Amino acid sequence: MIQIGLLGCGTVGSGVVKLLEKNAATIAQRSGDEVVIRRVLEQDVDKCLALGIEPDRITSNFEDIVNDPEIDIVVELIGGIEPASTYILEAMCQGKHVVTANKDLIAVNGQALFETAEKHQVDFYFEASVGGGIPIVYPLKQSLAGNQIQQVIGILNGTTNYILTKMSRQGLDYQQVLEEAQALGYAEADPASDVSGLDAARKIAILSSIAFNSRVTLDDVYVEGITGITAEDIRYAHELGFVIKLLAIAKENEWGQIQVRVHPAFLPANHPLAAVNDVFNAVYVQGDAVGEIMHFGRGAGQMPTASAVVGDVIEIVRNLNHHTNARIGCTCYEQKPIVSINELEVEYYIRMRVTDRPGVLAGIAGVFGNNNVSIATVLQKSSDDNMAELIMITHRVREKSLRDALAVLSGMSIVSQINSVIRLEGTQRETV
Ligand code: NDP
Ligand code: HSE
Repeated sequence: MIQIGLLGCGTVGSGVVKLLEKNAATIAQRSGDEVVIRRVLEQDVDKCLALGIEPDRITSNFEDIVNDPEIDIVVELIGGIEPASTYILEAMCQGKHVVTANKDLIAVNGQALFETAEKHQVDFYFEASVGGGIPIVYPLKQSLAGNQIQQVIGILNGTTNYILTKMSRQGLDYQQVLEEAQALGYAEADPASDVSGLDAARKIAILSSIAFNSRVTLDDVYVEGITGITAEDIRYAHELGFVIKLLAIAKENEWGQIQVRVHPAFLPANHPLAAVNDVFNAVYVQGDAVGEIMHFGRGAGQMPTASAVVGDVIEIVRNLNHHTNARIGCTCYEQKPIVSINELEVEYYIRMRVTDRPGVLAGIAGVFGNNNVSIATVLQKSSDDNMAELIMITHRVREKSLRDALAVLSGMSIVSQINSVIRLEGTQRETV
């Protein structure tokens, strides 16, 4: 029998308790051993009692878990940086294998966790930290190990995808949909990290580190969230043949530099990621041998995330029984530079409110031209008050050039407001 110490019995922890019980026979068959939860660390005892966990298996003292020689695997699901970090490191030092869903921690402190795991010869698995129930960490690390990965583009936050889908399909209000996502257990304890793009940034930092063999931390990721997206932008996106998605993008260029960013993007309606709606997540990967592939599934929620956690537990149980760990460990053996957002070259959607009179368009085009920004498409919607809404799509331009042009435009009397600037992604994709 293999015994687990579970830290946290909230949304995901409860799912793990339920799944280990519901599929106990199958899990024992596949792992080669009976897998049971020996003790649960939880500050809210009622959550555990509601799941049928006996009071003597519940503790509020981590020492009861870390010092218990019967516990082989610690599953950390309390989230956040501390005390989760200390608990994981102490568990490893005691020779316990660790499974976690904690992307916050891995994205900032991954190096210490991997080094400690290596030093103490224990497994450290974290499939649930990216994409909830979608298998992506293992496939990227193992199944695609023979490829040079060129890009990883993900819809990596269920809450924001749910919000954008509902706003887009049902015209619902942002706040109302956010509250629904919280009630459904998708959002983080502090949903600001979902809507600000931080949660997706943590996940793409983890995936980039694996994909490009170079440590990418949260600080390396350029981040914009979805709070500025309006119904008008969603409507114009549709009119122009796009959808708006919060994308997490990581690419390696031909000079071995990494570009890693999270922001809302206009995505062509026929791109594989454009069809990923509601709480679903997807990760689109391009490798030199495999070409394009996409992993799709539920990126958040109790049972999908528990599925990923339990999959990791089963692999560790098998490792224990076979006295092995054949999985590729930390692969950050290179140090690749991160490209500044100013050097990015993409197409942009720009929406601005301007005075509607002769010469205005020419004046605006002149500013763009002076800054090497080339316009590809212009739409003008006039209103009754002698004002017009200008919607523009640029050709590929350097971000710094666009920012310089917008700085000049925002100081001109003919420009009343620059409402939105949103990058395009996926327009250059080779289709097969
Ligand atoms: P929850 O807040 O629902 O659960 C965390 C639980 O841990 C709560 O019951 C909390 O109690 C308890 N807890 C927190 N700190 C301590 C402590 N020091 N000692 C004892 N108990 C503690 O979070 P989730 O289950 O949603 O998330 C868990 C992890 O999984 C996080 O790292 C999250 O980012 C990750 N994750 C979550 C997904 C999801 O869909 N929810 C998807 C993918 C990953 P209390 O409530 O009383 O604070
Ligand atoms: N809050 C996250 C999301 C949970 O909405 O995707 C999964 O990490």
